[in-house]
Amino acid sequence: MSKELHCISLLTTISFFFLLLSTKSHAGSISIYWGQNGFEGTLNQTCATGRYKFVNVAFLNVFGSGQTPSLNLAGHCNPSTGGCTGVGPEVEYCQSLGIKVMLSLGGAIGNYGFSSKKDAMDFACYLWDNFLGGTSSFRPLGNAVFDGIDFAIYQSKSTLYWDDLARYIARHIMYTTKLHLLPLFLITLLGLSYVTQARYYGNHRPNHGGIAIYWGQNGFEGRLNETCATGRYKYVNLAFLNIFGGGQVPSLNLAGHCDPASGGCVGLSSEVEFCQARGIKVLLSLGGGVGNYSFSSKNDAKGFAKYLWNNFLGGHSKSRPLGKAPLDGIDFDIESGSTLYWDNLARFLNRYNGYGRGKKKVYLSAAPQCPFPDKYLGTPLKTGLFDYVWVQFYNNPPCQYNGSTTNLIDSWNFWSSQSYITTLFMGLPAANQAAGSGFLPPGVLTSQVLPLIKKSPKYGGVMFWSKYWDDQSGYTKQIVKDV
Ligand SMILES: *[C@@H]1O[C@H](CO)[C@@H](O)[C@H](O)[C@H]1NC(C)=O
Ligand SMILES: *[C@@H]1O[C@H](CO)[C@@H](O)[C@H](O)[C@H]1NC(C)=O
Ligand SMILES: *[C@@H]1O[C@H](CO)[C@@H](O)[C@H](O)[C@H]1NC(C)=O
Ligand SMILES: *[C@@H]1O[C@H](CO)[C@@H](O)[C@H](O)[C@H]1NC(C)=O
Repeated sequence: MSKELHCISLLTTISFFFLLLSTKSHAGSISIYWGQNGFEGTLNQTCATGRYKFVNVAFLNVFGSGQTPSLNLAGHCNPSTGGCTGVGPEVEYCQSLGIKVMLSLGGAIGNYGFSSKKDAMDFACYLWDNFLGGTSSFRPLGNAVFDGIDFAIYQSKSTLYWDDLARYIARHIMYTTKLHLLPLFLITLLGLSYVTQARYYGNHRPNHGGIAIYWGQNGFEGRLNETCATGRYKYVNLAFLNIFGGGQVPSLNLAGHCDPASGGCVGLSSEVEFCQARGIKVLLSLGGGVGNYSFSSKNDAKGFAKYLWNNFLGGHSKSRPLGKAPLDGIDFDIESGSTLYWDNLARFLNRYNGYGRGKKKVYLSAAPQCPFPDKYLGTPLKTGLFDYVWVQFYNNPPCQYNGSTTNLIDSWNFWSSQSYITTLFMGLPAANQAAGSGFLPPGVLTSQVLPLIKKSPKYGGVMFWSKYWDDQSGYTKQIVKDV
């Protein structure tokens, strides 16, 4: 199906949407326009100030009525020669700090206005494909997915069809329901009554999930940077930090990759950065099937959170096992030992969110087993602090694929109905031999499972154990375009 047909069918087959009007502003936050002066610092410098909660990238100022849309970023870069694609990683940097980055339409200088509803609809498709969750062979600002569209319309040839544009953008958002549609704000910017602002939240390509992969437990699965260079994974869990707590010296195990104890893994730092530069989140996974980990007290968990901060996240230590690059977060794959204090660990780690020099977000993820509630992770998950939950729908006959998808889908639906879970992934073995049971053939995933689970507003993608098994089976190569 061609892109245009896709866009049009979207817009004509969806016959409902929510429109809420509000005049509320977000108390206590500053929104800033950036882009119209080359001497105002880069976008990421702007975000690094920590002062702004919203940044409007100004302006896309030529569009509509048959014109080729054109962005103007003054002295910053030249969009028409592809000179602005580097702004994409800066948009993602801002988003990693919790800042919403909007693309601003209009401004005082330009040429914009629609000749018809259809014209507004086509432009909504253009915005979707070039700045939001769609795809285009040439995205002026690279692959970053903007948080939304700002309407700074005040000298248009026509006052017509701006409401249609807002609706068409909103319909894309509804259709790709992994995002929460927030109220379409009607605001009066500069006293002009037809200025509207539509926004939606979420960091992912809305109609696509991402693939999370575990890497680290087999020396024959390729390097970390090669894993990221495949372009197939959006999250990489480094497996595992499997000895800690109860007074033990924490110890990382990366199988045949390198020897952390002798400092042999510090070189992974540049590979972590390689991954992060591609928008891939790299998390340290705690636990796993083999190890010795338990906390003796709340204080023990607190001390360990500090250890993680200093040795793997934004803090400092002389002996960082993976070198200086701060990881994006911590994954909980707790499968043995005591069930206590894991919720405390999550809370202590959350205190480091946005802390320190880089002010980076500390992502938390968890890999519970599908029988509900998980023995170790049930209580921590209820804190609501976990950004990603990749449930292991394998090695657990009551809630996995057994030739029928019924148990699997029922379990998915139960997990996704938990209010404290925001982004849910289907965790699967990447090959038949990767787990004792529960292998879901790729063709069944794409034909019977993904079409159902992608309807969930909490759908985040699919997780696989593990890179090694994925290499053997070629699983993710077969399904990546459907995720
Ligand atoms: C901002 O982006 C530029 C170009 O990508 C990069 O060199 C610089 O280190 C970034 N600064 C921060 C604070 O991330
Ligand atoms: C990964 O890192 C190694 C060691 O620095 C380097 O030799 C190799 O070219 C890198 N591979 C990729 C795909 O960047
Ligand atoms: C596991 O850790 C505990 C402390 O939490 C320790 O007492 C025990 O000896 C350890 N077991 C092994 C086999 O190392
Ligand atoms: C799968 O599990 C369901 C429910 O336990 C059962 O009714 C069904 O017969 C099983 N299917 C196969 C092929 O084992």
